[in-house]
Amino acid sequence: MSLKIGMVGTGQMAQGFIPLFKAHPLVGEVVLCDLDAAKLRANAEKFGITRTCPSLDDILGMDVDAVVLITQHWLHGPQAVKSLRAGKHVYSAVPCAETIPEIQEIIRAVQQTGRLYMMGETSYYYPHVVWCREQYRRGTFGDITFADASYHHDWDIKSIDSRGIIRARTGDKFLEIAGSPPMHYATHSISQVVGVTGAHMTKVSALGWRDRHPDGIYDPAVNKYRNAFSNETALFAMSDGACARVNEFRRVGHPGGEFMTLCGTEASFEYTQAGRVIIGKGFEDTKRLDDILTIRPGVYGGTAAAHDVARLPKEFAGMPNNHWGSHQFLVDDFVQACVTGEQPPNNIWQAARYMIPGLIAHDSAEQGGVQLAVPDLGDAPKA
Ligand SMILES: NC(=O)c1ccc[n+]([C@@H]2O[C@H](COP(=O)([O-])OP(=O)(O)OC[C@H]3O[C@@H](n4cnc5c(N)ncnc54)[C@H](O)[C@@H]3O)[C@@H](O)[C@H]2O)c1
Repeated sequence: MSLKIGMVGTGQMAQGFIPLFKAHPLVGEVVLCDLDAAKLRANAEKFGITRTCPSLDDILGMDVDAVVLITQHWLHGPQAVKSLRAGKHVYSAVPCAETIPEIQEIIRAVQQTGRLYMMGETSYYYPHVVWCREQYRRGTFGDITFADASYHHDWDIKSIDSRGIIRARTGDKFLEIAGSPPMHYATHSISQVVGVTGAHMTKVSALGWRDRHPDGIYDPAVNKYRNAFSNETALFAMSDGACARVNEFRRVGHPGGEFMTLCGTEASFEYTQAGRVIIGKGFEDTKRLDDILTIRPGVYGGTAAAHDVARLPKEFAGMPNNHWGSHQFLVDDFVQACVTGEQPPNNIWQAARYMIPGLIAHDSAEQGGVQLAVPDLGDAPKA
């Protein structure tokens, strides 16, 4: 089978994905699409793409099998529903949507059309998450009793120009949108835990830290979310009896990234900026995992020893693979799902379990930490 893929949005994040979809052996054609005609032309030339299209609405009338939405985050929910209802499989960059009704609408569209949906959650493929998922499956940890996951992304981290990227994404709506509640983007932290154990959050109590920075991003009178918190911390009860703490920090003296600790009855895992270790019950049982989990440059463009690169198409060798080795796996999993018709990892039911807990956590933080139930939209249907 040879798929035709419509790539909608040719901005910063799409740069690593356009060449990967184009190179995948099961993809026959990539059609590029962007509202910005100059950007579209430049990317078509850069990546050697012959067919282009000026908007999502137009590409939905074309002969593409699937669309890849790498557009601004507040557009994802409605664009996914529209695309599914037009008969296309959908890959969407995170987050899947901004509200629970939008997520429910995507589920309905998947059920009614029989098309597939996958959210591009990068954390799910990070080396430490891949490794812990396998160790959990083997029983190394025993029962998980506690998990701690965080996503630190200060506005002024030194590795990327966060303000410039979000300004490019939001235009004159920068101050209206940039101050969204940190817990509304908790998918990178929550997916680390849910992506290892498969358990989901059932209850939450959260608190927020009122921002003090003079840039006005978290001024509740300015941003459309009326949000005052730049940092939020949530304590969740989980369906397997564990509890999980999640930190989403946007003002933090830290270079940034996703981190996780798991405490199991038999072993524990710790990943902080200082390194990664697995720990047993004796001091002598501590083993450093940096050799296995550090991304090394190589044939598969940045993977760790924990990654199963043998499953990747050989055409990906030497190609970009950003976000800690996740991009090639994301592309391959979506393409394979379109071809086999099987639910991909991070389908909409799983994506709901990454997103909804954070949405409810922010509600709790706004109410001073009152404990709230986290709705669960269930499992993906079995094939
Ligand atoms: N780790 C991660 O998973 C991660 C990291 C970075 C960004 N992202 C996600 O990637 C997404 C894109 O980020 P970006 O920085 O590339 O944004 P961007 O603003 O640079 O690019 C988005 C593009 O989509 C186009 N677009 C929007 N609506 C369209 C429509 N109806 N038809 C055609 N084109 C349309 C815009 O013109 C724009 O060029 C964001 O939603 C973000 O959440 C995820």
